[in-house]
Amino acid sequence: MAKLDGKVAVITGAAVGLGEGIAEVYAKYGAKLCMIDISKEVEETAERIRKEYGAEIITYVGDVSKKEDMHEAVRKTVEAFGEVNVACCNAGVCRLAPFEEMSDEMRDFHIDVNIKGVWNACKAVIPYMLQQGGGNIVIASSVTGDIVADAGEAAYAMTKAALVGLTKCLAVEYADRNIRVNCSQLGYARTPMVEKMAVESNPADPESAIKDIARGVPMKRLAKPTEVGELFAFLGSDESSYITGGQFVIDGGSTLPETMSMGTN
Ligand SMILES: NC(=O)c1ccc[n+]([C@@H]2O[C@H](COP(=O)([O-])OP(=O)(O)OC[C@H]3O[C@@H](n4cnc5c(N)ncnc54)[C@H](O)[C@@H]3O)[C@@H](O)[C@H]2O)c1
Repeated sequence: MAKLDGKVAVITGAAVGLGEGIAEVYAKYGAKLCMIDISKEVEETAERIRKEYGAEIITYVGDVSKKEDMHEAVRKTVEAFGEVNVACCNAGVCRLAPFEEMSDEMRDFHIDVNIKGVWNACKAVIPYMLQQGGGNIVIASSVTGDIVADAGEAAYAMTKAALVGLTKCLAVEYADRNIRVNCSQLGYARTPMVEKMAVESNPADPESAIKDIARGVPMKRLAKPTEVGELFAFLGSDESSYITGGQFVIDGGSTLPETMSMGTN
């Protein structure tokens, strides 16, 4: 029996990038899915995963920052599959700008998608999880904000750090009702988001910005989306049954080096 056999999971931001990787790994382990995204491309991605893994998947095109969309997506999930066991709150956005040029609109865009989007997903699934007697929430935070940051990431870093607080509070609030809440803290994976950030960081040579990320990581590479999916699968499965309120760094060691110059390597 696979570790997610019989589980029903909603995954936000599932059209591309990490959400696609998470959906693929969940399908591989036998979960039934509702893949949610603001982009219609989510249906094509779902079709590929259905064909490859024979998974039962519905899709929902909607905006995580709109609470009605999240409630409707979860309602449709329960209508299709009878319950909702796992919520992977993955959708997020990142735009770079020097702080003094960052508009209030750009700040609010990050707050709306990255914080309120996760809030809305949790609000939508928790009533069902309470009724069913339990569930699991996995939130995509980041090493950015809580541990490290690069210039231009003020809005992004602020929102990703906030998710650690949300994780801890929901974990303690629902621990005695069998709902576990954990968050991932990824370094870098190559996704459309990171490709856009590379263009913003080095418009003349975005590829070199990505190569330089890898050079700074002790494992000398970025994460694969499916490696992040494996962490989400562990946290969403019964294998992690005594783990709640945790923050899980998955970064190939990128937050470890004290300097780029000292030591024997
Ligand atoms: N890629 C990385 O290196 C990295 C590192 C740390 C954390 N993260 C976090 O992981 C998550 C996924 O990142 P990614 O790199 O795959 O991003 P991405 O931009 O490549 O993909 C994000 C997906 O979310 C969808 N989306 C965006 N706004 C949405 C909204 N309002 N409602 C519904 N869907 C929406 C997009 O359409 C897209 O399909 C984000 O929360 C990000 O902050 C990524």
